[in-house]
Amino acid sequence: MCGIVGYIGFRRADKVAVSALKRLEYRGYDSWGVAVKSNDEIKVYKRVGAIGDVSQFELCEGTISIGHTRWATHGKPSDVNAHPHTDCNGKIAVVHNGIISNFQKLRESLEREGHVFKSETDTEVIPHLIEKFIDSGLNFENAVKETLKHLKGSYAFVALSSTEDKLVACRYKSPLILGIGDNEYFVASDVPAILEYTNRVVYLHDGDTVVLTRDSYEIYKDGKKVNREVEIVPWSVEQAEKGGFEHFMLKEIHETPKVIEDTLLEYVSDEIELDVGFTAGISDVIFVACGTSYHASLIGKYLIEKLAEIPVRVEYASEFNYHNAPLSRSLVIGITQSGETADTLEALRKAQKLGARTLAITNVLGSSVTRIADVILYTRAGPEICVAATKTFIAQLTVLYVIALRLSLLSRSEVNEILADLKLLPEKVRAILDMEDYIRKIAEELANYENMMYIGRGLGYPIALEGALKMKEISYIHAEGYPAGELKHGPFALLGKQTPVVACVLRDETYDTMLGNIKEVKARNSPVVALTDKNDSEAEKFVDYVIKVPSTNVLLTPVTYSVVLQLLAYYAARLRGCEIDRPRHLAKSVTVE
Ligand code: AGP
Repeated sequence: MCGIVGYIGFRRADKVAVSALKRLEYRGYDSWGVAVKSNDEIKVYKRVGAIGDVSQFELCEGTISIGHTRWATHGKPSDVNAHPHTDCNGKIAVVHNGIISNFQKLRESLEREGHVFKSETDTEVIPHLIEKFIDSGLNFENAVKETLKHLKGSYAFVALSSTEDKLVACRYKSPLILGIGDNEYFVASDVPAILEYTNRVVYLHDGDTVVLTRDSYEIYKDGKKVNREVEIVPWSVEQAEKGGFEHFMLKEIHETPKVIEDTLLEYVSDEIELDVGFTAGISDVIFVACGTSYHASLIGKYLIEKLAEIPVRVEYASEFNYHNAPLSRSLVIGITQSGETADTLEALRKAQKLGARTLAITNVLGSSVTRIADVILYTRAGPEICVAATKTFIAQLTVLYVIALRLSLLSRSEVNEILADLKLLPEKVRAILDMEDYIRKIAEELANYENMMYIGRGLGYPIALEGALKMKEISYIHAEGYPAGELKHGPFALLGKQTPVVACVLRDETYDTMLGNIKEVKARNSPVVALTDKNDSEAEKFVDYVIKVPSTNVLLTPVTYSVVLQLLAYYAARLRGCEIDRPRHLAKSVTVE
């Protein structure tokens, strides 16, 4: 996720910007840049790679600056695509975090009017729009306000003008805070950037525009001046990096609603805007992936087969390399959040050799997989720091819903109904996050065991597999996921008081059989925790603990149930004192086969 900063005051502004950006490094970035205003000039320095020492470059000794760490979303990581971006004459500079979803149309119309673009980014339309409105007679501040009327998507940006001692910053659906010092002001994506200078902050609201001069600030919303409370941040810098959360994992789980919104924004407006030309003439789909991405693939199989009636199979990427039958009419989909998993890359290469068309779903722009697959679809989860995948898994599911609905044989009104439920998912996830204390109490019960089983049927089975993986990788409890019907074919021998079972109960055709399976488990004395729909009052009669999950279309339960299981694993691991963000023996990107 990009980080932005802005400074106006009395200090050397290039140094403030660089030190603030370094404090945002935890957000992940591939390039960085700073712009400083001095006299009536803006100097820009931007580069791919790690943030350099300010002495490495020649800026100017100005006291107004903006800065950016970029995590590429539109346009590969490069010096040119790094922020700040400027207008045609270098008189306006902008740093931006978010996605301007209508940038292509804006860019085409600005180009027709003679604006020349340098980068591939969505951001660059912002300085050009500001320039256009200044040319039409508006002052800098009003030109920024006019620009906002034309932007769709999500943004937090700061604009700098070469001719005014002023910064204008705007927030809509991407984070932005205002820092208040003595005769100096800051804006930033997150608190750690500015804690070195001040702990007095205003958390800006969606739709806020803040205008900063050296001795004052004013906040506007809907054209009117508004007052916002100044808050004192009680955190250390280290705590602040995690947004006050104890671990990145918990912070990332809490980012889930935003991740769903951002990923949907990429592919859905009023309807689904996804060109599915890549499926023309295919006979079947094969998913190749590892770990959590493999579990997302199993859910993708269920969705595509159910909604589009296309045959799908899912293979562990590491095993696919031993596959040798021709695949000339197959679409092979590789899912990899990092885009660097060696097994998945090899599987896609192998699929291409066998004649398949390939598609990759990844979270990292410019990653290795984007240079291999024929078609790339991005998830918009932002960087994930914790080794255990949480928000990126949900982002993968979001893209899979979009694909399955786009290919679906359902009527338009049926598709729109599911789409409407999909758009409500962030709200449902927020309701789950409100249940955190209750989930923590159940995790405390589970944390004392050394073996566990997770069971589910149909769509509930991959949910169980992912829940078990999360539990084992961060809490080191031995947890296995099983299809509920398989238990009696062997694993029953392991049941008993010392082996709790987490049952994923869905309100679909699997419901009655699943209740039967739970009773069988109870008869073997295993404690049972059931996840079930909020409106279900039956399952709780047979289990020791019930977690009632906010109701949604049953097809979307992999999202809601998985967030519950992520929290369950997190709190069990926390109680066991595990190193949650970096579990033993594991790596975030597995780049060897
Ligand atoms: C998930 O929590 C794991 N850390 C791991 O299973 C991961 O999903 C797997 O290594 C695949 O990674 P990828 O999505 O980056 O390819």
